[in-house]
Amino acid sequence: MSRHNTIKIAPSILAADFARLGDDVAAAVQGGADYIHVDVMDGHFVPPITFGAQMIGAIKPYAGVVPLVVHMMVEEPARHIEHIARAGADVIVVHAEACADLAGTVAAVQETGAQAGVAVRPETPIDSILPFLDEIEIALLMTVNPGYGGQPYIPEVETKIATMRGIIDSRGLNVELEVDGGINENTIEQAVRAGARLFVAGTAVYGRPEPVPERIKILRELAENALRE
Ligand code: DX5
Ligand code: ZN
Repeated sequence: MSRHNTIKIAPSILAADFARLGDDVAAAVQGGADYIHVDVMDGHFVPPITFGAQMIGAIKPYAGVVPLVVHMMVEEPARHIEHIARAGADVIVVHAEACADLAGTVAAVQETGAQAGVAVRPETPIDSILPFLDEIEIALLMTVNPGYGGQPYIPEVETKIATMRGIIDSRGLNVELEVDGGINENTIEQAVRAGARLFVAGTAVYGRPEPVPERIKILRELAENALRE
């Protein structure tokens, strides 16, 4: 089956318990997570600071064969790419807005052996991603302004999602169309209808009373049903 007919869920450990990160990653793996989403923030590109290569190395064994996607909310991420890759990142996603030389940064990611992704903020046009579509693994359209978990989904991004879906399909590309921010049981279906297939979810996986595997299952079923409609 083409990856464009397949729903993928990427729990974001930003909403996990940082004192029990290994267990929280393992719970996502047990629940069938397709990727583990790791938010690296530098206090410049976005106000908060989260964690870096050392933390990625610490959680890597708990992810097993599930790839780590590292979302770099970092100004000039090129400076950190080698360390992040060596720590165990399988895909490194950089923000178009954060790179003076985006092509050089994407190439630098690929030189490490990791796969590359490019992200844009909600108000940034998708144009900056287009030149890389046939060589990157993930095109990430942020559905909140990056920096914090638990923010409301911005539905206006769906116009960009739909345009991107059209380009990917018409060119027969293999790239994953990912959305990140405010994805939960109330918003995932509309994001599927707009054209997204890969869904980051932090609060909706780690911030609810049900166990993590159950939360992943709920989101996946809603999305798969919306895809079949
Ligand atoms: C926000 C991060 C997201 C965050 C999403 O800047 O990039 O990955 O964890 O959190 P939720 O799913 O709670 O909106
Ligand atoms: Zn993220």
